[in-house]
Amino acid sequence: MSLLFKHLRVHQIFGANTDVGKTVFATALSIASKNAGHQVFYLKPVSTGAPEDADDLKIRRFAQSGVNADCLFRFSEPVSPYLAVRMEGVSPNTLPTDKTFVNAISSHIKTCAGTTTKASHMYVETAGGVHSPTLLGTSQADCYRPLFLPTILVGDSKLGGISSTISAYESLVLRGYIIDSILLFKDPYYLNHEYLVPYFAERNVVVHAVDPPPSLTGNAAEDERTTAEYYASIASTHGSSVLSQAISSLDSAHAKRIEELESMPSRSLQSIWWPFVQHGAISGPSEITPIDSAHSDFFSIYKPGDASSSSVLSPQLDGSSSWWTQAVGHANPRLTLAAARAAGRYGHVMFPKNAHLPALKLAETLVAGPGRDWASRAFFSDNGSTGMEVAIKMALRDYGVRSGSWTQHRKKSLGIIGLKGSYHGDTMGAMDACEEGVYTCEWHNAKGFWFDPPTVGKKADKVTITQPSALGGDSVVFEHLQEAYDVSKRMDSELATRYREYIHTTLSKLAENKTHDLAALVLEPLVMGAGGMIFVDPLFQRILIDTVRLPTGLSPFPVRLPVIFDEVFVGLHRLGMESTSPLLGTTPDISCHAKILTGGLLPLAITLTSERVFQAFNSTDKADALLHGHSYTAHPIGCEVANETLAIIGELKESKNWKDAQGRWTPEKKWSFFDEVNGTTAPPPTVWSLWDPGFVGELSKMDSVEEVMALGTVFVVKLKATDAGYLSNLAESTFLPLREATTTNPGDLGSVAPGRAPYSVHFRTLGNVAYFMTSLNTEAEVIRDLEDRIWGVLTSSRT
Ligand SMILES: Cc1ncc(COP(=O)(O)O)c(C=O)c1O
Ligand SMILES: *[C@@H]1O[C@H](CO)[C@@H](O)[C@H](O)[C@H]1NC(C)=O
Ligand SMILES: *[C@@H]1O[C@H](CO)[C@@H](O)[C@H](O)[C@H]1NC(C)=O
Ligand SMILES: *[C@@H]1O[C@H](CO)[C@@H](O)[C@H](O)[C@H]1NC(C)=O
Ligand SMILES: *[C@@H]1O[C@H](CO)[C@@H](O)[C@H](O)[C@H]1NC(C)=O
Ligand SMILES: *[C@@H]1O[C@H](CO)[C@@H](O)[C@H](O)[C@H]1NC(C)=O
Repeated sequence: MSLLFKHLRVHQIFGANTDVGKTVFATALSIASKNAGHQVFYLKPVSTGAPEDADDLKIRRFAQSGVNADCLFRFSEPVSPYLAVRMEGVSPNTLPTDKTFVNAISSHIKTCAGTTTKASHMYVETAGGVHSPTLLGTSQADCYRPLFLPTILVGDSKLGGISSTISAYESLVLRGYIIDSILLFKDPYYLNHEYLVPYFAERNVVVHAVDPPPSLTGNAAEDERTTAEYYASIASTHGSSVLSQAISSLDSAHAKRIEELESMPSRSLQSIWWPFVQHGAISGPSEITPIDSAHSDFFSIYKPGDASSSSVLSPQLDGSSSWWTQAVGHANPRLTLAAARAAGRYGHVMFPKNAHLPALKLAETLVAGPGRDWASRAFFSDNGSTGMEVAIKMALRDYGVRSGSWTQHRKKSLGIIGLKGSYHGDTMGAMDACEEGVYTCEWHNAKGFWFDPPTVGKKADKVTITQPSALGGDSVVFEHLQEAYDVSKRMDSELATRYREYIHTTLSKLAENKTHDLAALVLEPLVMGAGGMIFVDPLFQRILIDTVRLPTGLSPFPVRLPVIFDEVFVGLHRLGMESTSPLLGTTPDISCHAKILTGGLLPLAITLTSERVFQAFNSTDKADALLHGHSYTAHPIGCEVANETLAIIGELKESKNWKDAQGRWTPEKKWSFFDEVNGTTAPPPTVWSLWDPGFVGELSKMDSVEEVMALGTVFVVKLKATDAGYLSNLAESTFLPLREATTTNPGDLGSVAPGRAPYSVHFRTLGNVAYFMTSLNTEAEVIRDLEDRIWGVLTSSRT
């Protein structure tokens, strides 16, 4: 949505307050731009007050020809737009939404840009002050944010104006706005400019102070003449006039931004080492995507089009939720403010034996949330990998304490039980908890045993559990996804018996073999992410957990093993549920949370543990303590942002978007599954997704598709491939067309999103698996549109 043109420099004008001279400055800037030989556009998106007083008319009058002035929404009451629509009795239902409002501005700007190829300037004047509400009541600072127009702030030259100017500036900075210039009048009495010029110079912001306009006499002809003279003087083309200086500083800020964007790819190739990237295979700068900003579900990327008059920025849907971190959209102002709040109050403070409210509240919330009924403590670390490392340290101690004394040799040979395809992060210990694979390194020493698990997927519209060869290699089919995920009901099935026997036999053999002392079970519940978005049969995981916890005598092991849930990816509603424990019908001894925890704003991880694990470190000897920590442990900023994220998620749970989606995934009464359910309303489904069940089903029937799955925000399509695995290029090449900016493709499903600007899709693949992931608050309309595109790509590549 963000717009940037090479030939058309656009600035929005915000005021530190109402009546600070926004229109005078807009007029003067328009005249100065015109005098400097530019074509000039002026836009007042919303105007209130008598039509004859409207700002766009004033501009037309004083700038005369050569300025194209427009207004999009007009209301006659001379009050704020928010109040004006209410005084005029306009029903809120008939008002444009914030999105429609911003879209209207965006298309107006694009239209203006398209009418010319010569160097031009445009000024978009907001109403009132920075936070004055728009038609529906959203603060302008938030409402205009998707457009991300560089800003001119008109300062307040009256009494109190120093403070309101600085406050307005900081409100804009908090929302990421680029502020290219501050303009204000030189009030001869209050002299605010004498304070503000050096104040902002220290912050590298140019302030241009201008003589105030002449006071009006009431004599129309006289006033017209003095005002015209005033504009002529402040906006003359002589280099000395303040406005012509302002114009050239705005011009150079605009040129600089474009230069930076243009040079970023080649400069990045000189100094950056990207993760997961084969630099040897990069053909050149054209492969690098500069991101200018991001908002809600979209990046704004630099991508000069063919037409010189089109925007060099275009929206790109963040189709992997930026490595599975995003929960409430990019640049969410509530998270930004939470971060600022904690940064302002604490900065960073070290943690051992210290307490601060952000960490304390977060620990309490998580122990009572995903840790409900089992966890008693929260341990903080920096990211998923380190959260898992400490989880493993804790589990091994818990095992050691309960299994009695052990020799140094056996300590070194402790191993874990896991599943093939696991991933717990890229730090050394987290890697050693996984099998050798593409992510591991020379030092890697896989310590443990990994089961080949049965998987769940939709194949040819049937929910299918596919067994690995060790379990017979056959498939079990379910009518509805809810049945496959009804673990408690499946515990008595023939398949459960098969799993029990297989797991018990395998673990007993391993326990006899003294190569490793298997000391913990480490699982990514329900879905193994980085290993290829593998949806594991939850029944298999449940029985594995039950088996390692069998009482001595029945168990393959001398003591019950501790169980770790790595919920870094799957937890906190990524899969539609806060925690995977209720579905699995069992709780872990340790669980790890990160990614969504901070809404994707900054790294933070929490490892939750049971009281038993905590007590394994409690003694009179300091050396027994958990001597582990990171510089930024429990940083208040992360904790405060996490707290805010969890509060927003709490609201989303009740949202129409979620309720609608859950409704779509609720099986109808006719499903045998619900035979025994009484009443008319089916219970909420245990598993559901923001993705449409019909879409998932249709896609699973395609020839090129092996299987499809969706849970929560995650949608995965596995393509039929001969060379599967991470290094396969199949999914990447198949979905390549999504990277081209288009409006909705004419897919067979046909739900074309109206008025949506062309956008491209950023996505990541894992070999022959493509996955798409939304935020927890991505609008249904955006998801439907993405479904249409995915459908379109697969139908057109069918041949
Ligand atoms: C299941 C799981 N565990 C741990 C990690 C590591 O988290 P981080 O990248 O925050 O270190 C990841 C990251 O993708 C993950 O998916
Ligand atoms: C956490 O967020 C909730 C909801 O916004 C708020 O009531 C609470 O005070 C916050 N906690 C802290 C420590 O700021
Ligand atoms: C994770 O935290 C560890 C410990 O502070 C640090 O070494 C590592 O760089 C971090 N990784 C990321 C991706 O933040
Ligand atoms: C024990 O396990 C190791 C490593 O997996 C294997 O090489 C060895 O053959 C096994 N020994 C027995 C007796 O099964
Ligand atoms: C540590 O262990 C001792 C001895 O069992 C116990 O009395 C004490 O309450 C424990 N401390 C904590 C903090 O749990
Ligand atoms: C259905 O209703 C009957 C009679 O009220 C009751 O006995 C039974 O337990 C109910 N079944 C369920 C699944 O709620």
